[in-house]
Amino acid sequence: MSSRSEAPSSSDAPSEGLIETLRASALAELGEASDGGELDEWRVRYLGRKGQLTSILRSLASLPVEERRTVGAAANQLRTALEEQLQARTDELRNALSTAAEQLDVTLPGRRGHRGGLHPVTQTIRDITDAFAAMGFQTVEGPEVELERYNFDALNIPADHPARDLWDTMWVESPDGEDRSDMLLRTHTSPMQARVMEKTDPPVRVVVPGRCYRYEATDATHEWCFHQIEGLAVDEGISFADMKGTLYEFARRIFGSERKVRFRVDFFPFVEPGAEMAIDCFKCNGGGCNLCKQTGWIEILGAGMVHPKVLEGVGYDSEKYTGFAFGMGVERIAMLRHGIDDVRLFAAGDLRFLSQF
Ligand code: PHE
Repeated sequence: MSSRSEAPSSSDAPSEGLIETLRASALAELGEASDGGELDEWRVRYLGRKGQLTSILRSLASLPVEERRTVGAAANQLRTALEEQLQARTDELRNALSTAAEQLDVTLPGRRGHRGGLHPVTQTIRDITDAFAAMGFQTVEGPEVELERYNFDALNIPADHPARDLWDTMWVESPDGEDRSDMLLRTHTSPMQARVMEKTDPPVRVVVPGRCYRYEATDATHEWCFHQIEGLAVDEGISFADMKGTLYEFARRIFGSERKVRFRVDFFPFVEPGAEMAIDCFKCNGGGCNLCKQTGWIEILGAGMVHPKVLEGVGYDSEKYTGFAFGMGVERIAMLRHGIDDVRLFAAGDLRFLSQF
């Protein structure tokens, strides 16, 4: 003990006390090391060439013989102990890792990522155009910004015709702010009748889905922007019976094979005769309910034989060719099929609504 106080720098001189202190801190830190990197740092700190224990071993030479023996034995014992503990801690961490790996059940099915879907209006358009495709109708599309000529004139709706009042129209302004009195956002898909016939000789069989616009206040059943599907078939010898058969088949494909259809006279300037088609209510099977407003019937489209003036207007010989046309609102069909009570939901962009389809 007296020799210890004689050592040149007593606090740094190796002693059994210093070794015990080192042991305590080394073991405590080792217990906190949690990965390979930290274990390595620990090893360098205590057992490395410049490590704390290594420097104790180096400085043993400066001790008196007696102390060198006891302190040296303690230091060597600590080195063995630390090496053993390092190995033990390494094994422990490795085991913990492999246990975690075993807890991961790689045979579980993966989590599904979020998948988008088609908008219910798009779905309905596809179902309807598919139904007509099966009957030989091609799907074509046309411009939403339309010439007055196609939207009205070519459809036998002259400038002073009262039928123009039926459509509240969004006229297009030119960039300088002046009204382009000959351009508008189309109020229906019917302008495509003339556009298709101008480009094609008979026979014609097309359906035309697309957006339409009307200047009107929105409510549960009216939107200023909505979709229609137009249909047109022109050939030699096409009769009203062909129209009824085609639309009956469409109704059965979309609303169920047990559907019945009803045709009643209606007026559109571009058809003669004109008709509206209703299906028997699929909710009450015609008995009367809130969906069919107690009538047993649900109106779903306008139709008729293409007016001779429309055929002549595109250069078709109306003595040789006849045809039928029809038009329906897509949102209305989608609302009926899915029991949706407000048309404004379609364009509201609310995923809680859209993800149901
Ligand atoms: N275009 C008419 C409308 O918007 C529907 C229609 C199309 C009627 C074709 C008859 C023939 O109401």
